[in-house]
Amino acid sequence: MNQTLENVQRQLDLLRQQIELYNYQYYVLDAPTIPDAEYDRLFRKLQHIEQEYPALVTLESPTQRVGAAPLKAFLQVIHDAPMLSLANAFEAIEVEAFDRRVREVLKVSAVEYAVEPKFDGLAVSLRYENGVFKTGATRGDGYTGEDITLNLRTVKSIPLSLSSERVPKLLEVRGEVLMLKDDFVRLNKWHFEKGEKIFANPRNAAAGSLRQLDSAVTATRPLKFFAYGIVPNDDSCVPQDTHSAIIQYLSSLHFPVAQESTVVNGCAGLLAYYRKIGAQRDQLPYDIDGVVYKVNSLAQQAELGYVARAPRFALAHKFPAQEAVTRLLDIHVQVGRTGALTPVARLEPVFVGGVTVTNATLHNADEISRKDVRIGDTVIVRRAGDVIPEVVSVVLAQRPENAQPFIMPQHCPACGAKAVRAVGEAVSRCTGGLFCPAQRKQAILHFASRRALDIEGLGEKLVDQLVDNVIVRNPADLYQLGILALANLERMAEKSASNILAAIEKSKQTTLARFIYALGIRNVGEVTAKDLALHFGSLDHLMCADVEKLIQVADVGPVVAQSILDFFAEKHNREVIERLRASGVSWEENEMTTSISMKSHAINGKTFVLTGTLPNMTREEAKEIIEKFGGKVTGSVSKKTDYVVVGEDPGSKYDKAISLGVTLLDEEKLKTLLQTV
Ligand code: IVH
Repeated sequence: MNQTLENVQRQLDLLRQQIELYNYQYYVLDAPTIPDAEYDRLFRKLQHIEQEYPALVTLESPTQRVGAAPLKAFLQVIHDAPMLSLANAFEAIEVEAFDRRVREVLKVSAVEYAVEPKFDGLAVSLRYENGVFKTGATRGDGYTGEDITLNLRTVKSIPLSLSSERVPKLLEVRGEVLMLKDDFVRLNKWHFEKGEKIFANPRNAAAGSLRQLDSAVTATRPLKFFAYGIVPNDDSCVPQDTHSAIIQYLSSLHFPVAQESTVVNGCAGLLAYYRKIGAQRDQLPYDIDGVVYKVNSLAQQAELGYVARAPRFALAHKFPAQEAVTRLLDIHVQVGRTGALTPVARLEPVFVGGVTVTNATLHNADEISRKDVRIGDTVIVRRAGDVIPEVVSVVLAQRPENAQPFIMPQHCPACGAKAVRAVGEAVSRCTGGLFCPAQRKQAILHFASRRALDIEGLGEKLVDQLVDNVIVRNPADLYQLGILALANLERMAEKSASNILAAIEKSKQTTLARFIYALGIRNVGEVTAKDLALHFGSLDHLMCADVEKLIQVADVGPVVAQSILDFFAEKHNREVIERLRASGVSWEENEMTTSISMKSHAINGKTFVLTGTLPNMTREEAKEIIEKFGGKVTGSVSKKTDYVVVGEDPGSKYDKAISLGVTLLDEEKLKTLLQTV
């Protein structure tokens, strides 16, 4: 090699190393250290030099991660060491049996286990020769897989060459290729916009992407790799004592490994880990279908050996399946508390996520057409954790000829009011407001729900009857209920009627946060309600807050603020609140906030006179608020009067105020004054 070529080679090596390091920081550590523009500049520089010196291009160059010419078929690869499967357990008792067997074989009283998530992706094997990625294969039947090297080369988190000094001649890394949940959602959205294939779940998306004959397509898919082991290797570079040391070693070679991997002791440690990861499952960035337990000591692993096609030293402890297949019998439209019309699938009962599911949400009309769901279809249903079950996708191959497309109704199925879909919104809403019995029922159910006023026993069936028989129209009516009205309802024994009355009575003592949440203000959930309660200290402060005041509250933006203003601007809502308070619904207001602001309030000690009709409040309401803040309301104007509040058609008090030069306020100005501390 002449001098220049040698220089070029050195420059190429350096650039490739740099870019791979940035790839590692970006794709594995999720912590980029340089701006994208700088990365792009280096990458273009590398491309440029390679174009000029095509002879120096190698397969390990980061420029080769974009994919190669499409294949006609995948070649077969015989695995050097078979890719085994794991024995499964679902119950704690099976885990206990596993640990007992392990202890018996090893003749020890306690065992240390390496524990890790069980990734729900596709098993692959990566072969490195002298630190260079040579071949990558699928698991296949465990003995023979498919050569997907070109596709795996496009997965940015798979190192193309290992930079460490401590690299054996031959290293076979085993792990899983998957798609992160966020990436999956983004990919599907993008595909939907382009009218391309929608994937049912991240696993299918990963599988579809990895088994592409055209690696250039794979290169556009956001795939990740996670290493969970190696083929046993006696090279001195490779740790020989424990599985956890191997995982650390792989991480040091820049392979991604699960952050959740750790080491525990005994069966109790295994079960505690299962519970811990189970609780985190929905928050993890990837789908997992269980956890894997592995005896940590490699010597003990060898001693335990294998049975059939699975190691005796490892066990997969699976979570209940979150997806199942069933038939969609019909689609109903449900009316929510805020009038949102939600299409709901009625299903042939199916056991999923640990419970039997008969209904699943279809979200909205767009989602139904995106997934092309029809009545009569065989569908995949998903129930993850506490999340409402949903229809994920259709098994098109099983679509019957008479499958019926669904049409979103133009009118509310509960009250017949027009259903409208605002521009830019995905949902249609009933315009019937609180005249719509369905919205009324939902509002009452929400008011009585556990996290709101917590009225035990006031369930769907009872609310249906109360609303349908016009006994209860809004939450305030609940506090007027008597034993007779209740006991006359169908299937209502006197005992349960008195239990409900007792529960209603008990609910009167509540907290401000619960009360605000119970009102069911659009966009005000439990957390916002708590923030509002804490910030304003009293309901009156909240009720007369303007946008500026509201957006000072953490997490309250203009949209939420507007929802709050709209809610309190509604006369009907203020009346319900007033009636609730009159019936004895009460809470401890934040004395501190109230008394401090009382003393320093602009209204404190001032004398008011009201005349004329105010646009948004009755005179009684105005009087009450003024008095709440320490003001006094009198009937006639004198020199001592500080303010005269003037509405439409004012009387002679208006003239008197002008002649005496008393400050005049309209409703707007009064509100501003009420907010002045
Ligand atoms: S160890 C000799 N660890 O589960 C055992 N497998 O039934 C080799 N899997 O398809 C497997 N996460 O790809 C192991 N942390 C993990 C795993 C894991 C997922 C998959 C594996 C294989 C299946 C084994």
